[in-house]
Amino acid sequence: MILKIGGSAITIKDAKEPTIDEENLDRITQEVSKYNDDLIIVHGAGSYGHIYAQKFGIGDVIGNVNDHLYKLEGVCRTQASVQLLNYMVCTKLHEKGVPAIGIKPSSFIVTDNKRITLCDTEVIKRYVDNGFVPVLYGDAVLDYNDYMKYAIISGDQIIAYLAEQLKADRVILSSDVDGIYTDNPKTNPDAELLEVVTKDSEYVTTANNDQSDVTGGMSGKVKELLDLADKGIQSQIINAEVPGNIQLAVSGQKVKGTIIK
Ligand code: IPE
Repeated sequence: MILKIGGSAITIKDAKEPTIDEENLDRITQEVSKYNDDLIIVHGAGSYGHIYAQKFGIGDVIGNVNDHLYKLEGVCRTQASVQLLNYMVCTKLHEKGVPAIGIKPSSFIVTDNKRITLCDTEVIKRYVDNGFVPVLYGDAVLDYNDYMKYAIISGDQIIAYLAEQLKADRVILSSDVDGIYTDNPKTNPDAELLEVVTKDSEYVTTANNDQSDVTGGMSGKVKELLDLADKGIQSQIINAEVPGNIQLAVSGQKVKGTIIK
């Protein structure tokens, strides 16, 4: 099973500085610890990543030499910040008895035009086979496109890639909303949660509402998961902020949310 823990659930996403949501992290890792079969966790960056990615314009076309130097600093700062978050997530998982192994995506993933092209999953697979729980995350990576040279990969892109390569049985994406709606529930009280979304569904996501999200907000997530569904792997979006949801979802019980198929 591959579980994405959204950055908005474990950090205070709209904070000015990288800020952890201690209470949620503690509860979510506790809920995850109830699962005891093959598991890969991928977490988002929240305020540990989006702030730097946006400030330094990582993934934008690089201008002059100074701009490149600025981007180098940005890649370093972004990587260091999300790695710190990963360390905190893994440490919390260890406290709950989960054999979590932090794996740095930018050390073995290269994108081309922001899509993963180089990524050897053998190490991840071997960790899983030995009983570990690899924990990856959205990161700033090298990109083969010489105009941009660097890109941000979301945890959502990573789960879709790993799910396909490793033939995952189940994919759960947790975030800070219940799922996909017929319209924006914040502005339309009649908006209804969709239990199932396929590529033909009419739905509304918040891509443009959350300016701090460099990886496309909910619409970025749905796109990754619809592509995955196209390859025959179904997934589920749930709200990690509702206590008990992750535990129910990982144990295969019914949870409020949206199935993408
Ligand atoms: C973003 O990853 C990675 C960086 C900004 C470095 P995600 O897109 O998966 O993060 P969340 O879940 O939206 O916070």
